Amino acid sequence: MKAIYPGSFDPITLGHLDIIERAAKIFSEVYIVVMENKRKKYTFSLDERIEMIKESTKHIKNIKIDCFKGLLIDYVKKNNIDVVIRGLRAVTDFEYELQMAMANKEMCPNVDTIFLMTDKKFSFLSSSLVKEVAYFGGDISSWVPKNVEKKLITLFNENKGGVDI
Ligand code: PNS
Repeated sequence: MKAIYPGSFDPITLGHLDIIERAAKIFSEVYIVVMENKRKKYTFSLDERIEMIKESTKHIKNIKIDCFKGLLIDYVKKNNIDVVIRGLRAVTDFEYELQMAMANKEMCPNVDTIFLMTDKKFSFLSSSLVKEVAYFGGDISSWVPKNVEKKLITLFNENKGGVDI
């Protein structure tokens, strides 16, 4: 069965990576797709986000990394994907996730969303939190892959003040 794990990944965190590794054990192929979320302003470009994912997931064989601007469900149909994967952290994620899962199901009834509970050591983690801590010089080494840590440190050293987080 083919699954898709869509998201903004701005940038990928160890919480995302944990979901990707677990999904790759369950499904024969997992598409990691960097999508456009109209509600968000991004810190990293699409190419940078993809590059960080590629670098962090080299050890996982049955994944495909891609990007898409448009409706998730259109990508799903075009690529004959069976299942949408999303990670769930705290109850606060639930309402937004339920709304997306229901809208997607309404538009494409034969595709289900499956939620993987985030590992408890990452349950507080988000890309925004990582960026804020990195911005102020905090230690993010246990929250993101090494390549992402380097990229964030470089970004904030070079552009302090001029970057959207
Ligand atoms: O990591 P995020 O920002 O929570 O991911 C949200 C994302 C990108 C998966 C969602 O906004 C999305 O699917 N966007 C694509 C456009 C779309 O299909 N919107 C309708 C979903 S109900």
